[in-house]
Amino acid sequence: MDTKTHDTILVLDFGAQYSQLIARRIRENQVYSQIVPYTISAEEVAKIAPKGLVFSGGPSSVRTPDSPRPDKALFDLGIPILGICYGLQVLSVMNGGTVERPRQKEYGFAHLDIKQKASLLLSGISEKSQVWMSHGDSVASLPDHFSLSASTENCTYAAVEYPEKGWYGVQFHPEVVHTTEGSRLLANFVLDVCKATADWSMESFIESQIEEIRRTVGDKQVLCGLSGGVDSSVAAALIHKAIGDQLVCVFVNNGLLRKGEADLVLSVFRDNFNIRLQYADAQDQFLSALTGVTDPEQKRKNIGKVFIDVFEQEARAAGEIDFLAQGTLYPDVIESISPSGGPSVTIKSHHNVGGLPEDLRFSLLEPLRELFKDEVRLLGKELGLPDEIVNRHPFPGPGLGVRCVGEVTAERLDTLREVDSIFIEEIKKAGLYGDIWQALACLLPVKSVGVQGDERTYEEVCSLRAVTSEDAMTADWFRFPPDVLQRASSRICNEVQRVNRVLYDVTSKPPGTIEWE
Ligand code: XMP
Repeated sequence: MDTKTHDTILVLDFGAQYSQLIARRIRENQVYSQIVPYTISAEEVAKIAPKGLVFSGGPSSVRTPDSPRPDKALFDLGIPILGICYGLQVLSVMNGGTVERPRQKEYGFAHLDIKQKASLLLSGISEKSQVWMSHGDSVASLPDHFSLSASTENCTYAAVEYPEKGWYGVQFHPEVVHTTEGSRLLANFVLDVCKATADWSMESFIESQIEEIRRTVGDKQVLCGLSGGVDSSVAAALIHKAIGDQLVCVFVNNGLLRKGEADLVLSVFRDNFNIRLQYADAQDQFLSALTGVTDPEQKRKNIGKVFIDVFEQEARAAGEIDFLAQGTLYPDVIESISPSGGPSVTIKSHHNVGGLPEDLRFSLLEPLRELFKDEVRLLGKELGLPDEIVNRHPFPGPGLGVRCVGEVTAERLDTLREVDSIFIEEIKKAGLYGDIWQALACLLPVKSVGVQGDERTYEEVCSLRAVTSEDAMTADWFRFPPDVLQRASSRICNEVQRVNRVLYDVTSKPPGTIEWE
């Protein structure tokens, strides 16, 4: 992708926790960067003709025989290489150097002692610059022609180079913020060593993606399930820009959406973007599939099953369809790389459309699969999507179904919609929405006694939850200024008829999950 008109840097992923960040940091220099599995062949790389390669870090030890190694022929392509951590060790060992495990692993801050002042890679980096280390093995001896360019107190070969080939290696992690001048180092590699032209932007991403989508789709039809979330919305807007009416979107109202959500999706996509949109109002179908069901997993199963039924019906009504568009992002695609082979690819099927019958199997179109959430938001903005969609908190596929703890009824859903809407409104009023990963409200399956005016009440209890997180794998509860919670609580009790008690959830993840069910 995007290789014809813009220079590309390929990041070979050896399973590092941070390889996504490397690609991002490079893109921040207006140079396109794409992550590929370390198993990519030299032939494939030659076809892409990148200006440079980065070997990422990884959890393996090069001292074990089956540790991941890139194609040897990559070294004959004449392309500059930057090895980071494990990447440095691979670069060294495959060219005749050695790696050993020192007695102590090194983890944390260190400071550079620059030995090679003229190093292109370290140009402009300050003496004693802070770097972040996290490694067990270290390079013990360099291959021929390599020289030492910087050390730290505990690591002799902290930075090494073979400038005639454009090969560089660092033991520390320039991609993380703890390496204070890491961005400068990556810019040096990309712009000065690889001589890549800094002319890439979201706008050029859109242009090249449009070309690519047109080439892939030809005169065929594409179906896209819209959920109202940012990923599917951005994918739909992008594909629509490329192929117009060859795109048909399906929006299923499962009755488990937030207040005003269905109207928002319809007005943005049908009225503003003029996208062909099939709207399936299936609220009753979902509700009857949930009647009497209280087990969380059973709820998800029933919701998933009805979704497939409705989606299948809509797909058939859409006519001859060849492609199914999904807003899959990079973190959804590559979850991990197994040390012995290629990447283990896990695709999250948020709506379980993978369960469609044989005759409705489409080719997948996933134009966002190389981007990260914040880049997708940028792209959505560039495509003219409203803030309300672009900056929305994540929302689970089964929606309010898993937030109505206990039985899901039309009345409880309406109550929950009101509570959720007040909570979110107060968060936005306080200017805190952007600081929170996800905020949500749940109705609990208990009632409590209250007093309103002169009357005793016996009504629903709701729990509010707001968390900060990087990736939803772990999360911490958000520390609200007390007056925000106070306003939300008093409005909820005053304005929502069936609720007389409000709790705030102070559980982190783990042990709690973000959702209640
Ligand atoms: P948990 O509750 O597991 O959630 O901490 C992590 C993230 O995933 C979302 N989530 C779901 N998303 N279908 C989805 O599409 C689901 O069944 C589902 N369950 C949880 C949740 O909102 C959070 O962002």
